[in-house]
Amino acid sequence: MHINLLLEKLDSLTVEEKIGQLVQLTGDFFEKDLDTVVTGPLKKLGLHSDYNVYNTGSILNVTDPKRIIRLQTDYLEQSNHKVPLLFMADIIYGYRTIFPIPLAQACSWNFKEIEQAASISARECYDEGIHVTFSPMVDIVRDPRWGRVMESPGEDTLLAKKYAESTVHGLQGKQPGSVPQDKIAACVKHFAAYGAPVAGREYNAVDMSEHMLREYYLPGYQAAIDAGAKLVMTAFNTLNGIPATGNEWLNRDLLRQEMKFDGVLISDYAAVEELIMHGYAEDAATAAKLALMAGVDIDMKTAVYANQLESVISGNEHLEQLLNDAVYRVLKLKNDLGLFEDPFRGLKATLQQGTRILSDEHKTAARSLAEQSIVLLKNEQDLLPLSKKTKISLIGPYAEEHSTLGMWAIKGDEADTVTLKEGLLKHIDSDQMSVCRGAHLLPDHAREPLGKYVDKLPVETVNEDILLQEAIRHANESDVVVLALGESIYQSGEGGSRTNPTLPETQAKLLHELSQLGKKLVVIVYSGRPLILTEVAKQADALIQAWYPGTMGGEALANILYGTVNPSGKLAMTFPRSVGQIPVYYNELNSGRPNLPENGAYRFASRYIDEANEPLYPFGYGKSYTTFDCSLLSVSRKEIGPDESVDIEVSVSNTGRFDGKETIQLYIRDRFASVTRPVKVLTDFRQIFLRSGETGTVQFSIREDMLRFYGSSMKYQSELGDFEVYIGTSSQETPLHFSFSLRSEEQS
Ligand code: BGC
Repeated sequence: MHINLLLEKLDSLTVEEKIGQLVQLTGDFFEKDLDTVVTGPLKKLGLHSDYNVYNTGSILNVTDPKRIIRLQTDYLEQSNHKVPLLFMADIIYGYRTIFPIPLAQACSWNFKEIEQAASISARECYDEGIHVTFSPMVDIVRDPRWGRVMESPGEDTLLAKKYAESTVHGLQGKQPGSVPQDKIAACVKHFAAYGAPVAGREYNAVDMSEHMLREYYLPGYQAAIDAGAKLVMTAFNTLNGIPATGNEWLNRDLLRQEMKFDGVLISDYAAVEELIMHGYAEDAATAAKLALMAGVDIDMKTAVYANQLESVISGNEHLEQLLNDAVYRVLKLKNDLGLFEDPFRGLKATLQQGTRILSDEHKTAARSLAEQSIVLLKNEQDLLPLSKKTKISLIGPYAEEHSTLGMWAIKGDEADTVTLKEGLLKHIDSDQMSVCRGAHLLPDHAREPLGKYVDKLPVETVNEDILLQEAIRHANESDVVVLALGESIYQSGEGGSRTNPTLPETQAKLLHELSQLGKKLVVIVYSGRPLILTEVAKQADALIQAWYPGTMGGEALANILYGTVNPSGKLAMTFPRSVGQIPVYYNELNSGRPNLPENGAYRFASRYIDEANEPLYPFGYGKSYTTFDCSLLSVSRKEIGPDESVDIEVSVSNTGRFDGKETIQLYIRDRFASVTRPVKVLTDFRQIFLRSGETGTVQFSIREDMLRFYGSSMKYQSELGDFEVYIGTSSQETPLHFSFSLRSEEQS
């Protein structure tokens, strides 16, 4: 529809109809006859009884294609204005073909395949009638106590930017304007800084300096906006005392003016009404006004806009204008999606031709990304890969577990999941492997706090001692024990904060008992966060971080265990040694009193007296079955002006027995600046695949724009001076090192 027609459409709407466009409800509001809706969902939400549901602009988390057709058809018949409904859903890392959780995806450092994963999610959504997904989530995370770290690409800003860009491109395509066939609209979230709640406790306050916000937290959202994301979602948290959803500075000055976002801003679930609970709005009318003034276009699942906006804006020209602007943005989104021409976006045609969900192509992509997301943390005496001749016992609650998709796979079907056991049986005969559970997934005391999810947990029927004795028997009869352990998927995700994110005690005990048998132990950990694995790592001979690897996880893991695939994942988030180290992250500041090894136990250094400063596994870390040697071939210059670059060539040799992929990471330290700069900042990286014995070269170029940061006057710019460059295979293993200087044009 041409823009003039869109404006005409806007003009033709009554105030009530306009407000409806800003209201998002769930499907139950439309399901039954109107009387039942009025006494049911409408009443429960507190919507006025005369609210016309056929004015509502969008629907949340309805994902059944037939139901979508029914609701849209009925809606267009009943509504006066004939503006089609928008269907939005949380398709976070796959629709029906489920990919690894985002934190795992980021460990692949393979943003091409991450883009492909997003594009497959979009295709499956398109086929089934979804218009908008609430992805990507690019909240920077440094605290694994917070359950939602699983949804984030981790602690690093460069990875967050790349994840944001590739996901938006995969979901929406690269073209500005209309969203083409097979693509859906992306919504970046949660604006802003939701990933830094105090003490890792869900929905807790976020307190952070503007410098920290701009330097580390905003660039991920900005990258998604630059890539064209059509929507942004507000965050639940307060930011320096003001709830994000009612924060005019954040959403208007920063997001719209500075960051140049001109799409739809949607509140997080019920966040407009929560302005009251925050103690920021004294009643619903004030909440409506504050949210509208802050620039929130759509009120997700509360009655606040629906009940209050009309009287709030009445007689106030400024607010009326804000209403019109908001409605225009929603109509424009519908127009960009082509809904005025085809409210079903090809859904009807797809229903006839068949959908592409779970196609072989999609499953292959899911397996490939899972293989690259899995991180090998330890491999003593090259225990892995396993020989097919080795008799293994597969033990643990995750040995045959289908529930490995993670908390946000709303359309994922566990029945589609390839379990670890099934994956292993593609490599070996069943007489090479015995399988048993070994322990309960969770101790009783950890089940109850999971609330409504308790019903979804496995019912543990067998006594723990019997399970343990059986496991010991199996282990004794095998050459190698493969222990599949982990937290329950319901322990991470939204509302999944933990003060002590370790393996459940039931499983820690199993591991301990089996480690006494003198058998080689391979431990595989399934989790939605970095768990504290210090004790686990001591007891395991080999340790693999599987995350929640998605539909094809079992095959991916088995391919790694048997060496068909050489692991290449690199941690996107630091693994702490103990809870007391949290938050621990690689790009910290140096302190005036760094803990230098040569000073031994010098007391007045920045350190703990009961724990090392170093994490258990640092950012960027991940082992391979092969070994790589790096050397610096050339550095073009040690001094650059603003328009010049330092060009670097690094030679990489695969010196081991297996073909494999390595990720060469380039970190920079700015020696002196108007604000203290981190000890290392990931500035670029390259992935290289080398056959055993092969040598290759990777190239980097450092330009002035890569040295920029927010200085003391909050301007984004580089500062002249000296820089250290560290190149290596993790944030801690950086054997290649040199310095260079940035000079002004006159100096250089
Ligand atoms: C979450 C969002 C999600 C929304 C809609 C909220 O609870 O914070 O990430 O998109 O629900 O389901």
